Amino acid sequence: MSKGNAMRNNWRDCKAWKDFGVELSTTNNEAAKLFDAVLTQYVGWYDDDSLGGLEKSVEKMIGNDPNFVMGHVIKNGLDALGTGRSYYLDKDFQAEVQTMMDLGKSPSTLPREKKHINAVKLWAQGEMTEACLVWESILEENPLDMLALKFAHDSYFYQAHHPQMRDSIARVFPKWESSMPLYSYLYGMHSFGLEECNHYAEAEKVARKGLELNRNDCWSTHSMAHVLEMTGRSSEGIQFMSSTENDWNVCAMLACHNYWHYGVYNIERGLYDEAVGLFDTQIGPRAAKSGAMLDMVDACSLLYRLNLEGIKVKDKWREFNEVCKDHVDDHILTFNDAHFLMASLGAGDKSAADKLLTSLKEFAKGTGKGDNQKISKEVGVPLCEALVAYDAGDFAKAVSLVQPIRYKIITIGGSHAQRDVFNLFLIHAALQSPQKDHNRLARILLTERKALKSNSPLTDRLISRAMAVHADG
Ligand SMILES: [Fe+2]
Repeated sequence: MSKGNAMRNNWRDCKAWKDFGVELSTTNNEAAKLFDAVLTQYVGWYDDDSLGGLEKSVEKMIGNDPNFVMGHVIKNGLDALGTGRSYYLDKDFQAEVQTMMDLGKSPSTLPREKKHINAVKLWAQGEMTEACLVWESILEENPLDMLALKFAHDSYFYQAHHPQMRDSIARVFPKWESSMPLYSYLYGMHSFGLEECNHYAEAEKVARKGLELNRNDCWSTHSMAHVLEMTGRSSEGIQFMSSTENDWNVCAMLACHNYWHYGVYNIERGLYDEAVGLFDTQIGPRAAKSGAMLDMVDACSLLYRLNLEGIKVKDKWREFNEVCKDHVDDHILTFNDAHFLMASLGAGDKSAADKLLTSLKEFAKGTGKGDNQKISKEVGVPLCEALVAYDAGDFAKAVSLVQPIRYKIITIGGSHAQRDVFNLFLIHAALQSPQKDHNRLARILLTERKALKSNSPLTDRLISRAMAVHADG
């Protein structure tokens, strides 16, 4: 792939890490360099082909020094935050976390490394908030620890802890110098935190700076995509994504998600053929190939949005349901659960949908562990029951389940743009409900929506529809 000038290949050895101020306890220079390569690919969301990609780099790093504790930390942290492996169901993952903890008992393990071990263990066990506190305590002492910064950043995203995401980067930024490795990525991360806190103008400025320093920084591209989405600049969004496509689509781990944003602009403008085209050529194949949870939820989300708009996508669900149904008992994130359920309902797989809902109810009742147990109980169960009711044509039930919790849906995590599928879901349910008060609710929700983003063709189409329902009544 074309990496541009900002892509790195000069990896830090043990001494270079120590000189940088982020010491590693390994004495194996090759492992230390590969740690840098793994961290860099993680932060940049790309596979470095010269190293065989991220997964191969992780393998080589551990192979070079099987006792390299920070190697195990980054490996397990990537698995945990990938949200595809459940600590409680996957015995191999439990053993891998245990190995990391056992290695941490060595007298050579540094205090900062011990904190890293604890944070990854906590996150794997579902204690996301506590894990973030540990990463932040590392950063208080060592603001240059990019791994702690990025793990915390991703975790805040999963939890929709937007101010934390913004401030986490803002407070370390002044400690970094522009000559430091990975410096430019701070812009994209800071921009996204600003954007999710609705500071759109500042977020745009910061993302553009990130792209000026590294045009392949697909997280800065992503933040720009959010700014354009939230401010209703959908035509500009299409133009931005298409004109920079070859800069960001080389970042394999985020490309599917950036194509999802591109697709959402098209749905917004009623350009359904273009959205379906992006699904068929990019989002679908990329998600099917990677099997990554982030890609899975994007595929489900785009199909669900197309469905809501009345576009027939029924034959497209099956292969995603095949992957999602293996995760019905995971309950790592309520956000994921809701999207897995969309896949089984979309594919008409009633048994997988029932299985997920039954398992979720058990988890929510108290068998579950971690932060997501409470979220599942308060939001996950009613939200998933509403998706099932809607699918069965019981729109009144879907409204009565979601309306009381609509301001709590933020707790399931993800971005505002991603969770907007649930705002749209409630509007569509309310429009189709036989109850007049629900039809009125639809009009109220659309008034809110229009006030928040006045230049949305999708909102205008729904308003026209709501007026027609009103006139009929
Ligand atoms: Fe996004």
